[in-house]
Amino acid sequence: MYQVYQGCRDMSENNKNVAVIGAGASGLIAARELLAEGHQVTVFEQREGVGGVWRYEQWDGPMDIRTCSSLPLSPMYQSLRTNIPAWMMGFRVYQQDFTEPGKPVRCFPAYQAVQDYLQRFSDDFQLNERIRFGCKVDQITPLESDRWKIKVSTEQKTETFFYDAVVICSGHFSKPHWPDIPGLKTFEGTLLHSIQYRSPEPFAGQRVLVIGLGSSGEDISLAVGDVAEQVYVAARTKGMNRSETAVGSRYGNNKNVIRIPLVTGCNGSQLLLESGDVLEDVDSIILCTGYEYDYPFLQLDRLGITCRANILAPLYLDLFCIEYPSLSILTVQRKVIPFPMAEFQARYVAQVLSGKATLPARDEMLKRSGGSNPELDPDALCYKEKQITYMSHLARLTGSPELPESYWPALDKVYDLRWKDPGGYRDTSVDAE
Ligand SMILES: Cc1cc2nc3c(=O)[nH]c(=O)nc-3n(C[C@H](O)[C@H](O)[C@H](O)COP(=O)(O)OP(=O)(O)OC[C@H]3O[C@@H](n4cnc5c(N)ncnc54)[C@H](O)[C@@H]3O)c2cc1C
Ligand SMILES: NC(=O)c1ccc[n+]([C@@H]2O[C@H](COP(=O)([O-])OP(=O)(O)OC[C@H]3O[C@@H](n4cnc5c(N)ncnc54)[C@H](OP(=O)(O)O)[C@@H]3O)[C@@H](O)[C@H]2O)c1
Repeated sequence: MYQVYQGCRDMSENNKNVAVIGAGASGLIAARELLAEGHQVTVFEQREGVGGVWRYEQWDGPMDIRTCSSLPLSPMYQSLRTNIPAWMMGFRVYQQDFTEPGKPVRCFPAYQAVQDYLQRFSDDFQLNERIRFGCKVDQITPLESDRWKIKVSTEQKTETFFYDAVVICSGHFSKPHWPDIPGLKTFEGTLLHSIQYRSPEPFAGQRVLVIGLGSSGEDISLAVGDVAEQVYVAARTKGMNRSETAVGSRYGNNKNVIRIPLVTGCNGSQLLLESGDVLEDVDSIILCTGYEYDYPFLQLDRLGITCRANILAPLYLDLFCIEYPSLSILTVQRKVIPFPMAEFQARYVAQVLSGKATLPARDEMLKRSGGSNPELDPDALCYKEKQITYMSHLARLTGSPELPESYWPALDKVYDLRWKDPGGYRDTSVDAE
């Protein structure tokens, strides 16, 4: 059934009717900033509550990814603690502790504390009443009238709504990245991706191969190492987890976790390694190979955007669709502190929509957006140090206070501690300088 939303067309011209897609951290802060700027806001969220990735979802589906008809919507696992100090993670407009029931406030708290923080944020800014839960956005289409048509579905029906602007906050950790390893699908044991992992128990006594050593590979290999007979880790040395990278070395002081060469092929039970060796008798492979950006509800080519190798471009300020600037996509950047970044971005989007801030002309935005070719710059969206100047720039554009200078040095300390002791760094406390 289709229903035409009557909208709020009697609003003053500067106040827009805006759809926000997703009620994770980015969608919540987007809703708050848009409301603060006087816009009308509806948030569409496919799940039954706020929090996005922080909203734990029990996964009782098949363990093997090859037999799954659908995957969980959040990769959150039971032992997860933040890998950034909580005081750095929070929104600037909501500097509250990340608390865990019955525990003193910790620098690197468990995921429940983050979920609780986001729920309180949503409650305190009365955002829940703006959110349509259980409502999946299926298609977003630009109209000639400079408006947007949004088709959504719930369990009961499909509906169509019209908006002046759209802010995409759908995250980018839901579509597993499948590594390019010939024959992997022929593997005779259990093959899963970290999005399905919840706890180490199913791997007790097994020989497990973990592929990839980002944050997921780091955590999961060590946790599984405590119960498995043996954990092998095959990973490139690129990235932030450089501790004990030599092949054959133990990883993270865990006697059961050992680095092996990259896996270059698979033939049934045989795993071929870059060194020419063959690994056999592996019971389970856990792919910790990351995620692919996925916007199934957007026709990217129609919007003048390409998405290749997790580079979404061109976007002005890695934020605005250049052909249709009333569409923005928050936190497409990686290796950043996402909550405050989303906050600065959302404030700027809200001000552009109200006319308080203006964007350059189309050609100027295109010229400045650059970095659109993944072959030329595969790390275009890996911001790292670049996030400091980026957030300062957005702060200045919006007349907001910048993050204090004392904020950033802590990040280097965290990375340093993490390289040295990936299994234990969270039990220290890293404060602002
Ligand atoms: C395992 C893991 C651990 C992490 N740990 C940290 C950490 O310690 N510190 C840190 O700062 N960051 C961490 N991050 C990064 C994390 O992604 C950000 O902290 C932040 O939660 C991102 O929020 P988001 O709103 O952009 O995306 P998400 O949290 O992914 O939220 C997106 C929301 O959009 C909804 N959605 C998607 N598509 C649709 C649709 N078609 N229709 C309706 N709704 C839709 C989803 O259901 C979801 O609720 C971690 C990420 C992962 C995956
Ligand atoms: N709070 C926490 O402790 C925590 C825990 C888990 C995840 N997270 C967050 O969740 C997000 C996703 O993390 P993630 O670890 O799942 O993904 P990720 O950061 O994208 O890491 C994936 C890793 O897999 C590697 N990889 C890909 N293909 C490979 C192959 N064929 N062989 C070997 N290695 C391969 C990548 O190496 P290259 O880089 O060389 O391509 C990369 O290191 C990040 O933002 C992370 O910070 C946080």
